[in-house]
Amino acid sequence: MNNYFVIGNPIDHSLSPSIHNYWFKKYEINGTYEKIKLETKDLKSFTEEMRDKGNIKGANVTVPFKNKIIPFLDELSPISKKTFSVNTIVKKDKKLIGHNTDAIAFCKTLEDNYSSLAHTSFIIGAGGVTPSIIWGIKELKNSDKIYITNRTKEKAIELVKNMNENLMSRSIEVLDWGEIPDASLVINTTSLGLKENDNIELNFKKYQNKKSCMFYDLIYNPKETNFLSDAKKRGNYTMNGKMMFLLQAKHAFNLWTNLDVKIDDEVLKIVD
Ligand code: ATR
Repeated sequence: MNNYFVIGNPIDHSLSPSIHNYWFKKYEINGTYEKIKLETKDLKSFTEEMRDKGNIKGANVTVPFKNKIIPFLDELSPISKKTFSVNTIVKKDKKLIGHNTDAIAFCKTLEDNYSSLAHTSFIIGAGGVTPSIIWGIKELKNSDKIYITNRTKEKAIELVKNMNENLMSRSIEVLDWGEIPDASLVINTTSLGLKENDNIELNFKKYQNKKSCMFYDLIYNPKETNFLSDAKKRGNYTMNGKMMFLLQAKHAFNLWTNLDVKIDDEVLKIVD
């Protein structure tokens, strides 16, 4: 039996075990997947145990460890290096290799759902997931300018400095909190929206009736945050984080098993 885990804190809400265990069963793979709540001080012993125990083959890493896990791994994929973020660990010959399937998943959701016209992006937030979003946008053929804003502006400035060193490509401009650019893709990468009454205190009225403008919230629970319901009322196109979440799981599963699993109705139901 091969064992896989997702580590995070909090972890109770995680739907990853239901998804991966469903795929193990469906594709007749002898595997189990469990969630474990850890503290930062436990990361070292967790990775040591992963290396030592033959039955542990891989893990997912979620908030708040996607960056903190990096010093305990043996190798990083190129995308993990560029985004300082690991959400999937693959064990290969006792070595732990960190991957970032969030970034790939985000990019794929845009390829599938967003027109390929040149676009300007506006990113809200500068937390742990934001570098993956920037990487995903930069991968798109027709991505143009990127604006970013964060309540704590210094954090956005620092993030952009690090990303530019890494990606050495088009510039990303940091805006003051409250400054709203003309963009065709507006992405919420903050945690605001997880609670029902959460509101992002930004004024998006310049996007009124802009049907081709997409508002994308990485949050998938609740399905429709105020950020998205307000966008719908304005006439904008909207998308939540459900497909990104499922695609990051699909890519992780592929790294572990080499299987290209389907996102079928059963899996979609798990997240609903
Ligand atoms: P994580 O690494 O899990 O993404 P984080 O680094 O704390 O967590 O990032 C959370 C993001 O949500 C940040 O961009 C944060 O803004 P700050 O850097 O100013 O803290 C943003 N965020 C959280 N609560 C917010 C609020 N009430 N208003 C605006 N932004 C908020």
